[in-house]
Amino acid sequence: MMMLKYVLFVLAAAAVIGGAIGGIHLVKVAHRNQKEMASFQGAPVPYTANLGKTLVIYYSMTGHTQDIARRIQQRTGADVYRLETEEPLKASPAFYAKVKKQLKTGQYPRLAGPAPELDGYDVIFVGAPVWWYTAATPMLAFLQQTDFKGKKVVPFSTQGSNYGAFFEDFEKNARNARIVTGASFNNLGDEYNSAVDNKITAWLNALN
Ligand SMILES: Cc1cc2nc3c(=O)[nH]c(=O)nc-3n(C[C@H](O)[C@H](O)[C@H](O)COP(=O)(O)O)c2cc1C
Repeated sequence: MMMLKYVLFVLAAAAVIGGAIGGIHLVKVAHRNQKEMASFQGAPVPYTANLGKTLVIYYSMTGHTQDIARRIQQRTGADVYRLETEEPLKASPAFYAKVKKQLKTGQYPRLAGPAPELDGYDVIFVGAPVWWYTAATPMLAFLQQTDFKGKKVVPFSTQGSNYGAFFEDFEKNARNARIVTGASFNNLGDEYNSAVDNKITAWLNALN
């Protein structure tokens, strides 16, 4: 009986400490987001870039990267190619362990459909979520099978709060790409909608 009480006490204490650490992390992330996005608040930034013929290739499991891809498309008029896996992926607690294993073994998910045609594009945006501080494994699968043939490639990521080695790993794996300055986007609430638009427009304008 004493033992059970002790175990319950330890479990309760662990839950309280875990919750407090999680709470502090969330507050810190919210504060960092607010600070970063403050510089993009205000009147809409006009889009002035002319990037030529543009393609956006992206992978998205839960819609955040798709949202950024869509906003890039709206400004640049790019063609869009969404990477799909042969077997649809779904987030779950077990999924995190599965991805960790894929990263360890290099056995990435198989991609569905024909690869996107890269010829004829001046600029290719390539975006993915951050998984375990690197690019999502379907994106790593795509990079493994792709030769960018000297094309100008602009990486972008979406993440909860920390993109880790996403951009270094992207550059290492994007064969023969001429990488130019990418951008990363934390998941944000609707109150940041116009600031995100301005961040994207300012980034695209600077690519010209
Ligand atoms: C398996 C897995 C691992 C993740 N790892 C990270 C991480 O290392 N850093 C981070 O900030 N967010 C991480 N996230 C959160 C996603 O990067 C974030 O929600 C992203 O915007 C999802 O993009 P999507 O909606 O386009 O799929 C992870 C999510 C999953 C499912």
